[in-house]
This record gives sequence, structure tokens and C-alpha cells, in this order.
Amino acid sequence: MLEHGFCNRPPSREESLSPKSPTKLVARPAGRLQGRVRAPGDKSISHRALMLGAMALGETTVRGLLEGEDVLATAAALRALGAEVVHERQAGLWRVRGFGVGGGREPADVLDLGNSGTSARLLAGILASHRFTSFMTGDGSLRRRPMQRVIDPLSRMGARFESRDGGRMPLAIIGSDEMVPIEYRLPVASAQVKSAILLAGLNTAGETTVIEPEATRDHTERMLRHFGAEVRAAAADGGGKRITVVGWPELEGRDIVVPGDPSSAAFAVVAAAIRPGSDVTVENVGVNPLRAGLYQTLREMGADIAVDNAREIGGEPVADLRIKGGGLKGVEVPAERAPTMIDEYPILAVAAACAQGATRMLGLAELRAKESDRLASVSAGLRVNGVAHEMGAADLVVHGTGAPPLGGGLVETHLDHRIAMSFLVLGLAAREPVAVDDGSPIDTSFPGFAELMGGLGATIEAA
Ligand code: S3P
Repeated sequence: MLEHGFCNRPPSREESLSPKSPTKLVARPAGRLQGRVRAPGDKSISHRALMLGAMALGETTVRGLLEGEDVLATAAALRALGAEVVHERQAGLWRVRGFGVGGGREPADVLDLGNSGTSARLLAGILASHRFTSFMTGDGSLRRRPMQRVIDPLSRMGARFESRDGGRMPLAIIGSDEMVPIEYRLPVASAQVKSAILLAGLNTAGETTVIEPEATRDHTERMLRHFGAEVRAAAADGGGKRITVVGWPELEGRDIVVPGDPSSAAFAVVAAAIRPGSDVTVENVGVNPLRAGLYQTLREMGADIAVDNAREIGGEPVADLRIKGGGLKGVEVPAERAPTMIDEYPILAVAAACAQGATRMLGLAELRAKESDRLASVSAGLRVNGVAHEMGAADLVVHGTGAPPLGGGLVETHLDHRIAMSFLVLGLAAREPVAVDDGSPIDTSFPGFAELMGGLGATIEAA
């Protein structure tokens, strides 16, 4: 049904249009880690800055954009829709000239979103609310991920979808510019699905409402307001949060500064926390409470994390975090916390493997729908490195002894950047080096990860 072609896009992998060769990496046991590093730009906020810049009239500038493959996939897709998205290296910023709400043009080719679920889900909302047909695909990981969760609400608004395999990509989107506003209760707490609906609500007359069972990251809402849209948020009857966007706003170009990504900072923070004697400062970390679950959990485990220089950047709270290593103990992480640390369970499992006692993580069903089945990937990685644990359908219990884990394993990453980085961090604290079969997905969210960790005293190199 779909014609596969090429558009301006980053390389993607495994059965994709342009596979990238795997790169095996190894992390060697490290001494104490020391130094100051700067967290790379927030991935979620970077996607949204480009998308809202494209849906605004006039010029948007973005500083601190994450220049990872996922965000570059969004940039390429927005260009295909008619936005001008230019990287001005000298000035250290990105410039976007938008097409305005509903003003995108039909992409001439298939949009290849590589590994990026955020690009796919959020763009689905934009594409669905334009009167043209578009096509999207992705790499072997993205093509396995559920899209039905955005297809359902966007179909109720008036768009049509065709997919080859039960709501998975490749996907054809037959959009409409006569969408009807809906009130939609999310079946799963997902910021991506919420955002897809709110973005579709922009080119929809009237008020579009999303009710989330538990509050998820609110970057879309914050940024929509910053661009001039009317967005209301309030507690929902029966728990959760109710978010309404008023359609057909005139979004105006803005200057945006992207804070550092707490999900990326997490790797350096945990590496320092599990190496006794370490003293590491990670600068410019976003501390939005809806992203802060890992940091709360690490403190409960006994981690020494000081918050310095708390400030606000572009409407988001930011701080420098100083971590001193050693002395973690196991804790129970309640299911309600999951939305605020959904991407951090793999690295938390590594912290738990180095802690004294059991760490119980509950409410993890969504982990099975990430870049890989993260619950299964984490469990397999722990197993090959000699870490005692039990995995359930939606929970994980890791038994640390307080002593360095055995290590020595080769971890399968399944095209999942966070699995690769998490187990490389385990290798810094284990007795034997830890290898990952493919470190290339790290470039989707954290280009320069090995070098940044190297600056703190870690050795992560090609195996
Ligand atoms: C994201 C939301 C989360 C997260 C993903 C980024 C976002 O996904 O896992 O990495 O930018 O909105 P879900 O919305 O599927 O939980």
C-alpha cells in the first residue's frame, strides 16, 4: 500500500529505509567520578519547541535544542510540511519560520521518524488536523510501538488512519480541517497522547479537552501558553487532571531556551551516586516536578543530591545538581510515581543493583511499550550481569547486596538508547566490564554521552 521514499531525515535502523550499523560499546569499572558537566537539551521540550514554532506565524528561535536524531527527525518532518527550520551553528541557535495553525502543506514523501515515538505521536496530531493525506514510518523499534492510542482519539475528531498491522506503523493519515472537538479520557497516562490531542485541537473550532488519569509531563501546555494559546488545566472529577485547549489561536513566534534533560542527566547522576567517593555536578537540569520522580526516589534511597542555583528558564524550573556517591539502600517505588519517572526505570534498576537490599518498582506496564519492552530488556541485562531480581507483568524487584554487582555481561539493547546507557553505567560500578551490543541508538537522545562520562573519569569505548 505504501510507497517508501526518502525525505530529509536522520539515519534510522533495522529494516528501516537506511539501516545504521550496530556499534558494540564497553564500560570498564571506574574509580570515583569527579567534575562538572552540562545536561544536554531536554528531548521532550525540543520536539515541542520546533513543532509549536512551525505552527506559529513569524519567527521562533530555539537555544539549547537537543541535536539528537529524534529531534532532527521532527525537524525534517516539519520541513516537509513547509516550515523553515534552520540550524545557525555560529549563533548557536535554531530558527523556525512557521506555517501557522492549519497552514502546513502535504508532505511530498513518507515521513521517516526513525526511532522517535514522540515525533510520531505528536506529529500524528498535527497531520490529522490538516486536509491532506500523509504517511509515516520508522525504524524496527518504532514500527513495533502502539499507535492505536493516538488513532482512537484522532479518529473521533474526524481523521482517518490506515495501518498495515493493528495500529502500528507504517501509517497513512487521512486528515481533515473540519475536526470536531472532543472530551477524551486517556486510558493510559501518556503525555504523548495528551499532546497529540491538544495539537490537533489547535486546528479545531471550539474547545478540546483531555482528561488524564494521573498528571503527566506538562511541557505542551506550558509551551502552548507561551506561544499565545488559551490552555486551562484543573483537577478532574474522580482524580487526575483535565486540560482544555481553545481552538484556532493565533500562535506567534517566540524565543525559547531549552533546559537540560532530567532523563539524560539521570545517567551521570546515578553513575556518581553508585561510585563511592564521587563528587559530580550536573548543570542546567530541568526540575519540573512532573519529571522529578527519579530524583525523589534516589533521595529516599539515601543519595546525597544538593540543588544549587535554582532558577527558571523559558517557563521551566531548572537547577544544578551536586551528587556525592555512596550508601544507597533499597526502597519501594509506588505505582503513582511512574508518570513522573517513566523513562528512568532502567537507570533506577542499575542504582538498585548497587544498593543494599530490595528495591520494588510497581506500576510498570507502560515500560513494555517503549523503544523496547523495557521491563524485559532490563531483566535480561540484570541477568547477564549477575544481579538477582524478579520481574512480574508490571513490576520489578531488584536485590542489591551493597557490594559491586558481578558485571561481565553483554547486554542486548534492542534499539533502545536508555537500555544502552543504563547498562554502560552499570559497567562503571561492576566488578567486570559490561558491554552493550549496540550503542548507536544513544545518538537519538544523548549525542556525546561516552565523551561526557569520560570527562567525569569513566571509560566507555568501542569494544
Ligand atoms: C514523552 C512522553 C513519554 C516518554 C517519552 C517522551 C513526551 O511517553 O516516555 O520518552 O515527550 O511526551 P508516553 O507519553 O508514551 O508515556
